[in-house]
Amino acid sequence: MAQKQKLDCHQLEPLPLHLFIQSLGNGLSWNLSDSSAALSTLADLGVDCQMLANMPLSYAPMAGDERLRSAIASMYRDISAEEVIVFCGAQEAIFATQLAILQSGDEVVVIGPGYPTLTRTVLSMKIQFKTLEVQSDPWRFDIRQLPALLSPRTRLMVVNSPHNPTGAVLAKDDAKALCSQAEFLGIPLLSDEVGTFSHDPAAPEPMRMCEHSQQAMSLGVLSKSFGLPGIRIGWLVVRNQQWREKLMQAKGYLSICPSRLDQMVATELFSRSGPLLERNNKIRFENIASALALCKKYPLQVECSRPAAGLTGVVKLLMEDPFEHARKVAQQEQMLAFPASLFGVKGPWLRVGFGSSQFTEILKRWERCLQ
Ligand SMILES: Cc1ncc(COP(=O)(O)O)c(C=O)c1O
Repeated sequence: MAQKQKLDCHQLEPLPLHLFIQSLGNGLSWNLSDSSAALSTLADLGVDCQMLANMPLSYAPMAGDERLRSAIASMYRDISAEEVIVFCGAQEAIFATQLAILQSGDEVVVIGPGYPTLTRTVLSMKIQFKTLEVQSDPWRFDIRQLPALLSPRTRLMVVNSPHNPTGAVLAKDDAKALCSQAEFLGIPLLSDEVGTFSHDPAAPEPMRMCEHSQQAMSLGVLSKSFGLPGIRIGWLVVRNQQWREKLMQAKGYLSICPSRLDQMVATELFSRSGPLLERNNKIRFENIASALALCKKYPLQVECSRPAAGLTGVVKLLMEDPFEHARKVAQQEQMLAFPASLFGVKGPWLRVGFGSSQFTEILKRWERCLQ
């Protein structure tokens, strides 16, 4: 038993995305590929800074402050505060899940390619990731591949909808089928829904899996739809008590508890999150229209389709290799642009982020590189 719990940790492999950013050097002031919604300041949000100034800077409860957990729970249907665990960003929640659930010899079935830390782990070389491939034209998931990927060793399923980078969304019936499969196997389904509040104003919200199954753990964060990456608050809705206990044990090896300051700001924010999300979705909608119009103007250079939801999508480069293009964009316009292959997407795709309030300037700079 003791042997089974031992983790065969190996060296941290650098993430290609981070290596690429480092290779471009400093001084890039613009970002064509940003995955966050429009940024806000404390003043924009109307946060009472005096209240922050008077707050004792002590440790916080491990699972997060009660008020914040209640505020997060109220964003979901039939979820209680005790089913919410607050983390330092979504990234900590992803790693805590892997640490809490996986052991050497286990297999993970993941919708991919996609966000790098969802599709791999540093825990053990003996954990195998099997990929349910995202399909193109239009970008979508085909869960008919799922049975062939499952085995008696499957311990975790991972989905990401809205999908980073393509903006694809799981169809409701497919999402329900994944929940049923997780229930049948008695394993958790980690559902990365960090972009779930970013969608076209008239479109239905992408599904929040925890509302449909006890097995699904919905992952949320302030850094994407809310546009607040400087506040490191993420959360997992976990309805299974045993998994909550395991996650709390993992958290003891990580941040222990979320920052009191961040939680105070987040709690304030949730009391007025409706108008913030409405503003961010309006900006996103207008930015997508502007990007589609620009791509239409350069049909020999780029091909672009509307992402179903989330803050990113991919644009096909017809004339230039994505890495060459990204280097040109960096050198000529001091702007970051990510080849989608950094997220494992094969082919000449570039990730474009649609959340920024400076998108007009961003598109102007990009257009100069397309001419
Ligand atoms: C799909 C997805 N999941 C998780 C994360 C991690 O979020 P955070 O950096 O706020 O921890 C990201 C960040 O880009 C993401 O795109």
